[in-house]
Amino acid sequence: MKVILFGGTGMVGQGVLLECLLDPEVDEVLSIGRSATGQAHPKLRELVHPDLLDLSAVESRLSGFDACFFSLGVSSAGMKEEDYRRVTFDITLAAAQMLARLNPTMTFIYVSGAGTDGSERGRTMWARVKGQTENALLRLPFKAVMFRPAGIVPLHGITSKTRVYRVAYALTRPLWSVLLGAFPRYVTTTEQVGRAMLRVAKQGAPKPILETRDINALR
Ligand SMILES: NC(=O)c1ccc[n+]([C@@H]2O[C@H](COP(=O)([O-])OP(=O)(O)OC[C@H]3O[C@@H](n4cnc5c(N)ncnc54)[C@H](OP(=O)(O)O)[C@@H]3O)[C@@H](O)[C@H]2O)c1
Repeated sequence: MKVILFGGTGMVGQGVLLECLLDPEVDEVLSIGRSATGQAHPKLRELVHPDLLDLSAVESRLSGFDACFFSLGVSSAGMKEEDYRRVTFDITLAAAQMLARLNPTMTFIYVSGAGTDGSERGRTMWARVKGQTENALLRLPFKAVMFRPAGIVPLHGITSKTRVYRVAYALTRPLWSVLLGAFPRYVTTTEQVGRAMLRVAKQGAPKPILETRDINALR
């Protein structure tokens, strides 16, 4: 299986990358981002591209893939809607539209988040924009699956790129195993998200939108 990964430098993406590299059924991972993951592995290829809104210059490298795991994203805290939308909707759809055209049998998995507003009309800006993004992806001509995790515990030394999350995770570290055991409907791990993505890419998803409990059920 050949996989494209967006967001491979982030907390979720690092976890997904690790699981891809460990999986014997994954032959190649192409990590695409504005910065490199900094990792070296025989299965890993890196495509560093400063303008992710326009992938036309690298289009020739984007065919022949079975899955795309899209964990590029940003916290909406302190952002204007137009700026949040540029990262969340515009970058995602620019990549997805090209990939759907080049790889119509691909499975495309997008990490949105719990509370995403599929009605597109709610008052919460981030939820509305993520809902618009999900709905647009679900209309594209490939197999699109939405992952809506709530809390994600980083394992295997993985850290968030977002400072506020790094601090929060450091403060709550002693509680993680308790939270995981007590709230499996709301808490998952970077490892489980990666494994669930691979499972969906290989065997399909039970439904197009997967909440935390659905992600945790995929083994
Ligand atoms: N962490 C959680 O608990 C959690 C829970 C639910 C949903 N999610 C969602 O999962 C996604 C990933 O979260 P995360 O925790 O992995 O975030 P993160 O650690 O902050 O990583 C963000 C990733 O997105 C990339 N990125 C951000 N802004 C970009 C831009 N303008 N242009 C290009 N790349 C950009 C970063 O690349 P650079 O290295 O180049 O900055 C990095 O790879 C987000 O959409 C988030 O809402 C996260």
